[in-house]
Amino acid sequence: MRLVCPACRGFREGVFSSTELDADFACPRCDTHWPALAVGHVRVPVLWGDPELGHRTAHATRDLLANLQDIDGWLAGTNDLQRTELATALATYAPAHWGPYAVPALPVTDLAWVREWAPASADLPEGPVLVLGCGPGGELPYLDLPDRELVALDANLALVGYAAALAAGKAVRLPWRRLPSRIESRPLDLPPHVRHVLARTRLVCGDALDPPFAPESFAAVVALNLLDSVQDPALLLGQCEALLAPGGVLLLASPYHWQDAVTPPQHQLDRVLPADVPQQQAMEQLVVGPGGLLPEMRLERSADGIVWEVAVHARFSARYLLHVMRLRKSAATI
Ligand SMILES: C[S@@+](CC[C@H](N)C(=O)[O-])C[C@H]1O[C@@H](n2cnc3c(N)ncnc32)[C@H](O)[C@@H]1O
Repeated sequence: MRLVCPACRGFREGVFSSTELDADFACPRCDTHWPALAVGHVRVPVLWGDPELGHRTAHATRDLLANLQDIDGWLAGTNDLQRTELATALATYAPAHWGPYAVPALPVTDLAWVREWAPASADLPEGPVLVLGCGPGGELPYLDLPDRELVALDANLALVGYAAALAAGKAVRLPWRRLPSRIESRPLDLPPHVRHVLARTRLVCGDALDPPFAPESFAAVVALNLLDSVQDPALLLGQCEALLAPGGVLLLASPYHWQDAVTPPQHQLDRVLPADVPQQQAMEQLVVGPGGLLPEMRLERSADGIVWEVAVHARFSARYLLHVMRLRKSAATI
């Protein structure tokens, strides 16, 4: 899998071109030197936004990962917004993904349905599998196709950095909230097969709306609970389609829990759906119906109402109902 520079790709004299980054995540064309977070032997490049800010985020994330035992102490006495945002995201998604392996275990939603919906390797074209919005990596063991390279991307470096710490085999504690205002931590004991999947995954911090990969370079793209977490969901769908090789599979799941602060109202897909058609059906038409958002894709399978629960703290969980779609790109590019 090639990483391409998101800063300088585009059309030149009518031809689309992009440049592959070198082994140190530098671009030979525009000379952007992208930062990276090193955790043990694992390096996570930060391939979006301002590289200067990326360096500062990498620094703060390294610091956070070194202070998992006492995140509240790390946050105390500072009003550093970046620290708070990194710690808050981690204390929400790390237990949602890795709670079963905490000692003692924390309950989470069963993700076994993901394994059942993942495409079989024999049904895919050549190429790696990409997980967009991977958070701290908890869905990766359910998507493990042993003969495929696995690539996982998230915009939040604290989350993907946590996955890197697990991949590097570090003794990592699991942050979680017993009280709304207190982040505690528990030891985490991952089984060897889970560590193995993480260790063989290429982890990237990047923007799914501007992904640092070449078009048509993936056999499958997976985006679970990402659509309503981005600014422009229609653009995200278009990027997923563009990243897929002909015949490739897109696995999407979303509760369509639009929030104005995340997705501006004019980009929320529900706004353009007919009111008299069930939401699941209307969304499927919007995506793959005549004149739909993804002209090269057809729907293979869908289901509505799959439960996904995220504990905010020990006494409060958000329970979402997911609409899941598995789509396939036409084998011949049109
Ligand atoms: C609701 S969480 C879902 C995480 C995980 N897929 C799951 O189902 O538990 C959304 C994730 O998308 C990430 N995210 C939000 N906007 C993104 C973007 N533009 N590019 C990549 N990741 C993004 C967040 O950092 C977060 O990890």
